Amino acid sequence: MMLQLPSAPGPIGVFDSGYGGLTILSKIRECLPQYDYIYLGDNARSPYGTRSFEIVYEFTLQAVTKLFELGCHLVILACNTASAKALRSIQMNDLPTLDAQRRVLGVIRPTVECIGNITHSRHIGVLATAGTIKSESYPLEIHKLFPDIQVNGEACPLWVPLVENNEAQGDGADYFVRKYIDELLAKDRQIDTIILGCTHYPLLLPKIRQYLPAHVTPIPQGELVAESLKDYLHRHPEMDAKCTKQGQCTYYTTEAEEKFRESASAFLNEEIRVSRVEL
Ligand code: DGL
Repeated sequence: MMLQLPSAPGPIGVFDSGYGGLTILSKIRECLPQYDYIYLGDNARSPYGTRSFEIVYEFTLQAVTKLFELGCHLVILACNTASAKALRSIQMNDLPTLDAQRRVLGVIRPTVECIGNITHSRHIGVLATAGTIKSESYPLEIHKLFPDIQVNGEACPLWVPLVENNEAQGDGADYFVRKYIDELLAKDRQIDTIILGCTHYPLLLPKIRQYLPAHVTPIPQGELVAESLKDYLHRHPEMDAKCTKQGQCTYYTTEAEEKFRESASAFLNEEIRVSRVEL
């Protein structure tokens, strides 16, 4: 597929299946406030976590293509499920035909790179969607860098719906937060570090902390991804030059604008401009 894509510098694209990527976007904006951003949430088709490889790949490619059409030269998949199931295929197979100069980056690698310095017991846990756990992306990536670390994962299929339905702080969330944590820790009592391998999960952090033993540290990804992006732009001045810098952020959703504005404003504590888009 050969597309006519805008060549002028543009915003950095940040994509997630829903609202979860806002946890990454807000840390990126704290770290790199001078850049412009476009956030795209595929809320109408969220969650991705229980979908097949083929469908996550197809939906993610549509979202990346849309962000390129909207002027982005660099897109961050602020979604572990998309990073696990679609990133490599898009980088290897699609970018060369879409536009070999554009880039798509994920959130798994930047998270994994930091983990070796955080765990003391060398036993870590990963809480993520069923799709991410099944892909084995975390153990595979961790063992490339740190072959001595033992990794156990637990899928948390009900956590994303809790967040997407604004129930992260509700009483009903406690049962499922505790259940998946207990199931993970029962697999390996030496775990001292848990990767929150889904960008929705930082919204559950108060409850996650409540049910984790004091010696276990939960690791949200936002700051790790933001630091890694800063480093990337520093190492790639040619890409940095293609990113506009007026400190602005615009939002797109595949769902109703009003619905996104209400929920996202609560996550971000600010009023936002949002438009509906078809993928
Ligand atoms: N926020 C996404 C992630 O990091 C997935 C949520 C979903 O299931 O759509 O994996």
